[in-house]
Amino acid sequence: MTKTVLITGANRGIGFEFAKQYCEDGWRVHACCRSPENATELSRALEGRDAQIHKLDICDQDSINDLQAKLVDEPLDILLNNAGIMGGDIQSFGNINYADWEQALKTNTIAPLRIFESFHSNLLAGNDKKVINLSSKMGGIETYIRGGDYIYRSSKTALNMVTVNLDYEFRSQDICFLVFHPGWVQTDMGGVEADITPSHSAQSLRQSIANATIEDSGTFLNYDGSPLSW
Ligand SMILES: NC(=O)c1ccc[n+]([C@@H]2O[C@H](COP(=O)([O-])OP(=O)(O)OC[C@H]3O[C@@H](n4cnc5c(N)ncnc54)[C@H](OP(=O)(O)O)[C@@H]3O)[C@@H](O)[C@H]2O)c1
Repeated sequence: MTKTVLITGANRGIGFEFAKQYCEDGWRVHACCRSPENATELSRALEGRDAQIHKLDICDQDSINDLQAKLVDEPLDILLNNAGIMGGDIQSFGNINYADWEQALKTNTIAPLRIFESFHSNLLAGNDKKVINLSSKMGGIETYIRGGDYIYRSSKTALNMVTVNLDYEFRSQDICFLVFHPGWVQTDMGGVEADITPSHSAQSLRQSIANATIEDSGTFLNYDGSPLSW
């Protein structure tokens, strides 16, 4: 049976690679982005595939509601909360832009929960029932060893807590919640010096997601599937 995935922020970076690779693998893909009219590379990559591009701003409840109404009868195997932001270039003590911080919390922490709330019934109707939240090692409390980056780091740490909370509440419904670090990836966010390509990151993540079972729910994993500490 064909499997279905919904991906946020699919127009570029790791999200684009997820959309492209899931399609190539025969999945039905709902590729979401803020501006489908500008997503020419995504349109080209998905052409002729079982895929649809949808308009979605993950911080806008009306936008989420519109998409949910459009997909109301669509079972989802995987909800992939990929879209995220750094929260601005200046995040050092004494220079914090609090408006950027609010936006980062809305985008990186609150939106994945909002989207799950809206697509909960779609996941219950799917087979795999996996919610994947892309976090970052930068949100790790035990492992991180330098200061700064207050905005990005706190927003991802909070996303980790949201994910664990969801696991406690919904494990009885057989929904598997995972937080992943995608590696340091060569995207607009990661920069050209980063360790791995988006293609490599998405390939490894897809394998790790496929290998995960309900027993893994509520854990923080590296892109290769190895466990990370909080
Ligand atoms: N790259 C890395 O090294 C790295 C490391 C650790 C974690 N991550 C995480 O991995 C995920 C993907 O990162 P990436 O490197 O692919 O980032 P990216 O290249 O900067 O792409 C970010 C994506 O998120 C979308 N987005 C941002 N705000 C949005 C909103 N309000 N509504 C809808 N879409 C929105 C962007 O859309 P627009 O084009 O419309 O802006 C874009 O598609 C993020 O959650 C990031 O925090 C990345």
